[in-house]
Amino acid sequence: MARTPTSLEAFFTSRADRELLGRFDAQSVPRHVAIIMDGNGRWASKRGLPRVLGHKAGAKAIKESIATAIELGIEFLTVYSFSSENWRRSVEEVSGLMNLFVEVLEAELDNLMREGVRVRVIGSDAGVPEPTMSAFHRTEQCTAPNTRLTLLVALNYGGRAEIAEAARALAEAVADGRLSPGEISEAAISEHLSTAGVPDPDLVIRTSGEMRISNFLLWQIAYAELWVTAVLWPDFKRGDLLRAVVDYQRRSRRFGGR
Ligand code: IPE
Ligand code: IPE
Ligand code: MG
Repeated sequence: MARTPTSLEAFFTSRADRELLGRFDAQSVPRHVAIIMDGNGRWASKRGLPRVLGHKAGAKAIKESIATAIELGIEFLTVYSFSSENWRRSVEEVSGLMNLFVEVLEAELDNLMREGVRVRVIGSDAGVPEPTMSAFHRTEQCTAPNTRLTLLVALNYGGRAEIAEAARALAEAVADGRLSPGEISEAAISEHLSTAGVPDPDLVIRTSGEMRISNFLLWQIAYAELWVTAVLWPDFKRGDLLRAVVDYQRRSRRFGGR
């Protein structure tokens, strides 16, 4: 449930945000927003800092987006935290990120509980260090009863690998005689993805100006609206998410019809 207009006004206090808020329609909020959080490295190098500090600043931006999503009445927020291709980075950066996940999940559990956020991790656990995986599993367990916002964290996630995995599961079901080939429908594939039960994203945001999908939710974003900003992820503030939503609300989604 979206907050009352008065609480939105308390949340969006700057003049620019207030102006955007005047164009926000609480009746047509995207149910699911997915974010490709890009630009942490550039944010850090602009300041002469190690990349890991860019990721740390990026974690704060996630916190701000969670709070904003709750205020706006968004039900599902998916954040791309580590792609299956990100293993190509230096050992230092990868292990810095894996440790940061543990640190942030532990530090934020109380807040997640207070705010009613349910965390779900999507992606493959293969190769993810055990302390990182167990921090996610603990957070998933504790936050399972929360219903205000579902936060899907894409960790070691790749869209193609996810589709291949679904194909494998369906092939096994056919081989075992539990399913006939004719029953392999779009719905059956959706049900075998890690996002089973979650509505497809309505809006995909990418920061740092790159205009690509980078193997994110390939199946699920078939008809999502895309919104790209030059803002680097650590600088992404509540007003940026509000702007994305307001712009989304002015799009005409046709799904192939007229
Ligand atoms: C996104 O920021 C975060 C992850 C991929 C983990 P980057 O680290 O890709 O930042 P840039 O693109 O190098 O600036
Ligand atoms: C996409 O960003 C992955 C995440 C945000 C986790 P990348 O920085 O890895 O994507 P490319 O390499 O620019 O396509
Ligand atoms: Mg990048």
